[in-house]
Amino acid sequence: MAIETVGLVGGGQMGAGIAELAAKAGCKVIVREISAEAVEGAQKRLEGSFGKALSREKIDQAGHDAALANLNYTTDLADLADCDLVVEAVVESPELKHEIFKALDEICTKPDVIFASNTSSIPIASIAVSTTRPENVVGLHFFNPAPVMKLVEVIPSILTSDSVVDTVRTFAADRLGKEPVIAPDRSGFIVNYLLVPYLVQAIRLLGDGHATKEDIDNGMMMGCGHPMGPLALSDMIGLDTIHHVAVAMFEEYKEQIYAPPPLLSRMVEGGLLGRKTGRGIYDYSS
Ligand code: CAA
Repeated sequence: MAIETVGLVGGGQMGAGIAELAAKAGCKVIVREISAEAVEGAQKRLEGSFGKALSREKIDQAGHDAALANLNYTTDLADLADCDLVVEAVVESPELKHEIFKALDEICTKPDVIFASNTSSIPIASIAVSTTRPENVVGLHFFNPAPVMKLVEVIPSILTSDSVVDTVRTFAADRLGKEPVIAPDRSGFIVNYLLVPYLVQAIRLLGDGHATKEDIDNGMMMGCGHPMGPLALSDMIGLDTIHHVAVAMFEEYKEQIYAPPPLLSRMVEGGLLGRKTGRGIYDYSS
């Protein structure tokens, strides 16, 4: 099955990044956000990132203009009715995801439409059962920043059909230019299963007063060659997302290493979510 029309539910950091990839690949893309203000935010995010790609010569002017022309925005989920692939990229709330997949199942008319979730941690089978077509539901997990990071995790649930897995794997590799890996349907999949305990431990080290943020980040950048330290990376991903993922993983495995440390919980409660709010572990306001 050819994927030509792609719907994005959510135009935040990840949704916009995935929309950028699909628009660049020549797909018609429809980005759905919840309000006119949120649509405007998604559009600004996409135009900003395309502008950066243009200025860094990652795309030429004709490619830039064609990709922007492929982008459509809406606040109405019903506008996703004719999509071949819908990627959900909203916050890590199981209830919200259930609601969205149930609605998409009712709205999307093509029998072989693929419903994908960009969830960072929620098992795909638990989302798939909100639809009457669980064989069409798959995990498609991109990494932040999506236009730049090479990897995509393809997560088949116990209910996903082999043809859906083949279709999305081929689409990710051949159209989006990504390196797909097949990841298991368990909380955190491959990458977050390894990454999130590391990020959470870094926040624990800071919160318990054992080291400064600069020393923790420099330690991992200079000692291990990481492009960013764990605390700067947590701010980039969003502390709310890290918290949601840690909670989901703790729920799944019941191991202390995944439990969100008090500092992370307090910062999320206080609305200090990282770069997107101007303040997280670091201050981005100036
Ligand atoms: N399209 C194409 N290329 C783009 C682009 C766009 N829209 N925007 C930027 N780029 C390119 C730049 O041109 C640059 O390319 P070159 O190296 O060839 O010049 C490259 O991307 C890096 O961009 P910047 O120069 O703006 O930024 P940087 O050098 O400071 O790197 C970074 C920023 C890519 C974020 C880097 O610090 C990095 O790799 N950090 C680690 C990110 C990471 O670990 N992400 C995974 C998070 S985990 C996750 O997402 C999963 C989850 O579920 C929580």
